[in-house]
Amino acid sequence: MEQKEDKLKEVISHAKEYGFVFPSSEIYDGLAATYDYGQLGSELKNNIKSYWWKAMVQMHENIVGIDAAIFMHPTTWKASGHVDAFNDPLIDNKDSKKRYRADVLIEEHIEKIRQKIDKEVEKGQKKFGPSFDEEQFRNTNPNVLRNLDKIKSIEDRMRETLENNDLEGVYNLIVDLEIACPISGSKNWTEVRQFNLMFSTELGSVAGDAATIYLRPETAQGIFVNFLNVQKSGRMKIPFGIAQIGKAFRNEIVARQFIFRMREFEQMEMQFFCRPGEEMKWYEYWKETRAKWHKALGLGDNLYRFHDHIKLAHYANAACDIEFDFPMGFKELEGIHSRTDFDLKQHEYHSGKKLQYFDPELNQNYVPYVVETSVGLDRMFLAVLSSAFKNEKLEDGSERAVLSIPPALAPYKVAIMPLTKKDGLPEKAREIIDELKFDFQCQYDEKDSIGKRYRRQDAIGTPYSVTVDHQTLEDNTITIRDRDTMEQIRISVDQLHSMIDQKVNMKTLLKN
Ligand code: GAP
Repeated sequence: MEQKEDKLKEVISHAKEYGFVFPSSEIYDGLAATYDYGQLGSELKNNIKSYWWKAMVQMHENIVGIDAAIFMHPTTWKASGHVDAFNDPLIDNKDSKKRYRADVLIEEHIEKIRQKIDKEVEKGQKKFGPSFDEEQFRNTNPNVLRNLDKIKSIEDRMRETLENNDLEGVYNLIVDLEIACPISGSKNWTEVRQFNLMFSTELGSVAGDAATIYLRPETAQGIFVNFLNVQKSGRMKIPFGIAQIGKAFRNEIVARQFIFRMREFEQMEMQFFCRPGEEMKWYEYWKETRAKWHKALGLGDNLYRFHDHIKLAHYANAACDIEFDFPMGFKELEGIHSRTDFDLKQHEYHSGKKLQYFDPELNQNYVPYVVETSVGLDRMFLAVLSSAFKNEKLEDGSERAVLSIPPALAPYKVAIMPLTKKDGLPEKAREIIDELKFDFQCQYDEKDSIGKRYRRQDAIGTPYSVTVDHQTLEDNTITIRDRDTMEQIRISVDQLHSMIDQKVNMKTLLKN
């Protein structure tokens, strides 16, 4: 665990040093849980957005994208249930004065029991060697079974108390499990209280004339209120989806762990409208499709797992998370929710407008059911950055920091470097960039030795580095170096475009 925490610290400092992520308004000592994306960070972020948009909108005939306003009519949030039910149960430790989400404290306790089970399995593996049958071991080992029982009974109690809004019950569970504050180590807790996560502000400048409006806590409602506009203007037939990328805001109680949990963040959401009764089929379809999208990046299949929700949100009849093995352990990366007809029906009720679809095949009007996929852009960024970051020991004993970012997402695709600053080499390098820059983000670099320049490109994840030398002027060939293998080969300048394209084209990811 300590190693993992160190890894997060290293990632944070690397991200700052190379212009990926800066603390917001740092000259004023920053603002808690708010970050700015720097010159390389915004390139990486744009590439992730583009990978999502192409996969969801461009690759699906029946999905279209929109860009709704952040401010919405205040009744939207009454209808969606966020005014009354978008709460987190919070608890304070009286000694450390630290505030926690009560459900997260319990989830973390459960995770510790899961880790005990994994240790028991590891012990079994060592003891029985190659003949070890993990499934049988998990189904029969008394220690594993006892711990699984414990998890089940905690989860049952947690579900029941949270669903019944029984805050005293949640408090009692924390006390019974003897959960201690990670900072003070004490079990001296306050009662559990509900805390609404929406930020509010005022619209209108005349005193008394102002209306309270909210910064949207999810982008989804911008899609629901436009359901009929899009369906009619785009002549969309069910099943179809509406996608959107945009900012969302939540007054998180515990905002920490870098860009994992922020108060201002970005979501990439898609609402898929289908026939009532067909939602579970589409729920399974989108679970599988979204897992494939993640795994196509090649960060490592073992870094993902599904987690079914214990407590369903007020709008869902089935929900799960795709979790990622971040430096802090497995945590939610994306949510997939079967939202029923809750949102559209609520908006019908509060607006007095019909939000129905006429299904020509059934010759029937109905309010569609919705399956939602919702992934945090910033969490995707952290998943890519943290899994790509490595400190490698090289054969000659030296070290290099390298970001093995999937080439299609890398901020720069190629760095062009003249061997020296004279003899016409810089001019030739710029001539090559002038050809490539229409298709690829290129960087020109002439400072320091070639070795140092390679290290710099490794550290920012540039898949290819190209060196222009005196031979280039004679026979139009260059040396191209691969970031991951560090191998160098000599090829003609004419082959450069297709070689880079093959490596960095997003098409390969999308085909996967
Ligand atoms: N429309 C459904 C919805 O908003 P959610 O599970 O609350 O569902 C979806 O959020 C995704 O948004 C999460 O899986 C996560 O990736 C991202 N997300 C949520 N809160 C976040 C925060 N405070 N900071 C960064 N990302 C966040």
